[in-house]
Amino acid sequence: MDDLRSLPPLQAVARIHRLVSQLNTWSRAYHIDDAPVVDDATYDAAYRDLEALEAVFPQLVRPDSPTRRVGEGPVASLTPFVHEVPMLSLANAFIDPKAADDAPREVRHADLFEFDKTVRKGLAADVQRGAEEPVRYAVEPKLDGLAMELVYVDGVLTAAGTRGDGEVGEDVTHTVRTIRNVPRTLRGDAPRRLTVRGEVVFPTADFEVMNLDRAARRLKTFENPRNAAAGTVRQLDPNAAAERPLAFYAHSVGLCEGYDLPSMHLDALAQFAAWGFAVNPHNRRCDGLEAVLDAIEALGALRPTLPWEIDGAVVKVEDRTFQDLLGFVTRAPRWAIAFKYPATLVTTVLEAIDVQVGRSGVVTPVARLRPVRVGGVTVTNATLHNAAFVAERDLRPGDVVWVKRAGDVIPRVENRLRSAEEDAAHAARPPWTFPDVCPVCGTAIEALQVITRAATTRREAEIGDGEKRICPNRFGCIDQLRGALALAVSRSAFDIEGIGETLIDQLVDRGLVRRLSDLFRLDVRTLAALDRMGDKSAAKIGDQIDKARDATLARGLVALG
Ligand code: IVH
Repeated sequence: MDDLRSLPPLQAVARIHRLVSQLNTWSRAYHIDDAPVVDDATYDAAYRDLEALEAVFPQLVRPDSPTRRVGEGPVASLTPFVHEVPMLSLANAFIDPKAADDAPREVRHADLFEFDKTVRKGLAADVQRGAEEPVRYAVEPKLDGLAMELVYVDGVLTAAGTRGDGEVGEDVTHTVRTIRNVPRTLRGDAPRRLTVRGEVVFPTADFEVMNLDRAARRLKTFENPRNAAAGTVRQLDPNAAAERPLAFYAHSVGLCEGYDLPSMHLDALAQFAAWGFAVNPHNRRCDGLEAVLDAIEALGALRPTLPWEIDGAVVKVEDRTFQDLLGFVTRAPRWAIAFKYPATLVTTVLEAIDVQVGRSGVVTPVARLRPVRVGGVTVTNATLHNAAFVAERDLRPGDVVWVKRAGDVIPRVENRLRSAEEDAAHAARPPWTFPDVCPVCGTAIEALQVITRAATTRREAEIGDGEKRICPNRFGCIDQLRGALALAVSRSAFDIEGIGETLIDQLVDRGLVRRLSDLFRLDVRTLAALDRMGDKSAAKIGDQIDKARDATLARGLVALG
């Protein structure tokens, strides 16, 4: 450090400049072009050199320094972000639900035919062009993430905001700076002012790893990659966001001053890529509607293999001058539409029906499925809700069942597959009956009629309130005790971080905890004698248990469920 202090400032400027541009070039090669040019050690060494220089010359830290991706302090709250040009939404197109699978395209895709007709008519009225002449479109994956706008002034990233209501979103510059593939500075000639719109996504595989890890640490898991992306971007602390593998894909222009963007949309996106943005590699140019439908089908077939979730395809008129001519209706452009894929349905074998006992004693049937990929995830289990759900569908182990995953909901068994052949095989299988006794403790199961409120969604109506089956052995059924303990040690209850699922199993299986209150009788010696438990961890848990003795009434009530 001392020799750095004696460095003449001009030399420091030059060294910082060289290190920043080197590191940014290497980082782009790695994160955007997928073609690393140096090994990790070289990158890390340069990064450390830069950090050391910046520590000595804080006034020379550049806004595009890679060190500024992390390390900025948390913001106190999210502030409003005003969009200079409103961020609009898109109208939706669906497959006609009444149309048969083999119906002609113009019937199944009536919505898209209507869209194309409106575009052709609109253009014929505005420019010298036949109403039948095919329109050139772009078809792009509709990434299921968080809509974002990035602002660049003279080629430097200066701000980032969420969509919000389209006029005003939230300023999330601090977390967006930590996204590895968001360029801090643009390569080559940059516009004076540029706003780029795109989607921030959480790649599916990383999402599943993160959720498993969170579940293991008894943290709340995220519902889906979109929520995880939104939750991460909206963090106040950029360091927390920096740990998550978010990615940004540019898909539209907000405003561009001082630069002539190409008039074709996909060429404009190619210019974005040249500036350093990631652009979706599955974007396609299509001449006319038939080509659009081919591209949508091809993308639909790829969907389960894509690294991020998509919820549809966006169809856009390619020519940006035509886009301007067509304009907008209320809040959506006339020149683009979002096609939504129908819910993914697959079939698999219902290998067994087990029942599971929750902490409140409710006994629920669970489907054990032959592993099957649906909408990008592998499914092996699914809830069967209650006895009535199974009975109404007469589900039997061995049946082939439909498994559905629609948008962001967890996979579920819909029904069994019906065909003459399947029905015959089904009839030969023994019907499934709800067990009379609790599979865990052997106590006779009781039926409880619960009618809490009328169903408010179609799904609730399908599942039905029905009858709940209960294991009444509140204090003796070990699975109820396990569930009760898991709740009691959770964050919002006694917050005893050191006690996880495997430890609960040991405590229950060894008879050390037979009821909730036994938790407070555990001493450090007993804990230290458990498998894979060191003295230090035992002492820490002991401390946490001691602290929990003084927990607030609210926490105590949560612990009791
Ligand atoms: S274009 C004026 N292209 O979908 C139209 N949007 O309702 C500007 N989205 O939240 C949108 N992928 O962020 C466009 N390839 C894509 C997209 C896309 C995802 C999101 C967008 C917005 C919503 C539009």
